[in-house]
Amino acid sequence: MKGFGRRGVLGAAVGLAGAVRATGLANADEKPPSQPPLIKTASLPPDPTLPFHGPNQNGIVTPMQAHTSFAAFDLLADKAADVAALMRAWTDAAAQLTQGLPLAASGDPAAMPGDSGEADGLPPNRLTLTFGFGPGLFSADGVDRYGLARYRPEAFVDLPRFVGDQLVPERTGGDLSVQVCGDDKQAVFHALRAIMRVADGVARVRWVQSGFLPGSAPKTTPRNLMGFKDGTANLDLSDPDAVTRHLWVGEEGGAWMRGGSYAVVRPIRIALEHWDRMKLAFQEQTVGREKASGAAIGAKKEFAAADLDAVDGDGNPMIAENAHIRLASPKTNDGAQILRRGYGYDNGVSMVAERWPPWRHQMELDAGLLFVCYQRDPRAGFIRIFDRMARFDMMNQFVTPVGGGLFACPGGVAPGRYLGQNLFEA
Ligand code: HEM
Repeated sequence: MKGFGRRGVLGAAVGLAGAVRATGLANADEKPPSQPPLIKTASLPPDPTLPFHGPNQNGIVTPMQAHTSFAAFDLLADKAADVAALMRAWTDAAAQLTQGLPLAASGDPAAMPGDSGEADGLPPNRLTLTFGFGPGLFSADGVDRYGLARYRPEAFVDLPRFVGDQLVPERTGGDLSVQVCGDDKQAVFHALRAIMRVADGVARVRWVQSGFLPGSAPKTTPRNLMGFKDGTANLDLSDPDAVTRHLWVGEEGGAWMRGGSYAVVRPIRIALEHWDRMKLAFQEQTVGREKASGAAIGAKKEFAAADLDAVDGDGNPMIAENAHIRLASPKTNDGAQILRRGYGYDNGVSMVAERWPPWRHQMELDAGLLFVCYQRDPRAGFIRIFDRMARFDMMNQFVTPVGGGLFACPGGVAPGRYLGQNLFEA
């Protein structure tokens, strides 16, 4: 059965630039906010349809939607041609879904419906789908099963094992990835379900992590589950030089990665019960920012630059040596920058051992941050920053990376072509 088109219900379109301007800052001394986390659902223009085609994939610089589902897949195919056919089918499906259109039926009334139907009647809700290739597309267990190993860019390294990583194999890695984002949870679910169905027989889902942002505080930086504003300092998308330098892959990645970006995705569990027992001042020292205002310690305004050299009356640094924002800052990382696009996650509760004898087991929240960041070169981005952070960050006593991976997200696609076509036809 054919679903209802979902575009008809939309009101008049208002330019996104207008929404960006509407978040204007009251104080001239504050740095303009970076865009992704700040433009919230409530300040959206009424047309929730985003273009799918373009020089870059959508869902990277797109102002952050309220919901996400990140999925990694294992490839079952024997031949590169089958993977290429899947990428064509996924590209076609994503082009439909992002415009609020159901997946087409085969035309045979006796066949399965083309679309599962649960998004019928919903507007597209700024749906985006962002696809990536994992290391396994290029070689698995040392075997170049698709003849693509020679096209693996130098920057596409294996993520090293970091201090403190407790990666669960079932939640780690994958040969292909898809991040679905949108402002309606059911629309996001529907899109991921459609993508999984289209992959049938060629790729099998390996892990999925969904996430969310607070949806009712327009014009403010969203708070993460630790209660802190998260996204205040981020790659400045209004600075084209910074975007070129830090976000999009240039000539160095080969034709298929030009205009693409590398995604590092890490579900990071936060021991929230432990965090909640900490005094406010300690929480603030850990992050390096005030909880209420989001201002760096020693500063008055949220977007005022953090002064890492400031000392108190005793000569001690105002922002602790091992505070999160000091270790993450471009100033202490040779200018390294990434575009963070993370979401809170909530997987219910799970059993953990107590931290002290008699080592009983108890239920704790299985929740945290689905950390997602994009960059031009992971060696100069996430790896550069996180290597030191993993060893020294005060926040580490509360957070544990439990899975994830590194995915090469190819450049965007023109109508009639499919994502990664330049790789499969190289
Ligand atoms: C559960 C884990 C994490 C939590 C709860 C967290 C939270 C925060 C918070 C509250 C801020 C300050 C607000 C802001 O400027 O956005 C911040 C800043 C930042 N975080 Fe994280 N973060 C986590 C993991 C990471 C990881 C894995 C990285 C990767 C390298 C990272 C990189 C950054 C960067 C680059 C900044 C901005 C620093 C600056 O320039 O001031 N964070 N984070």
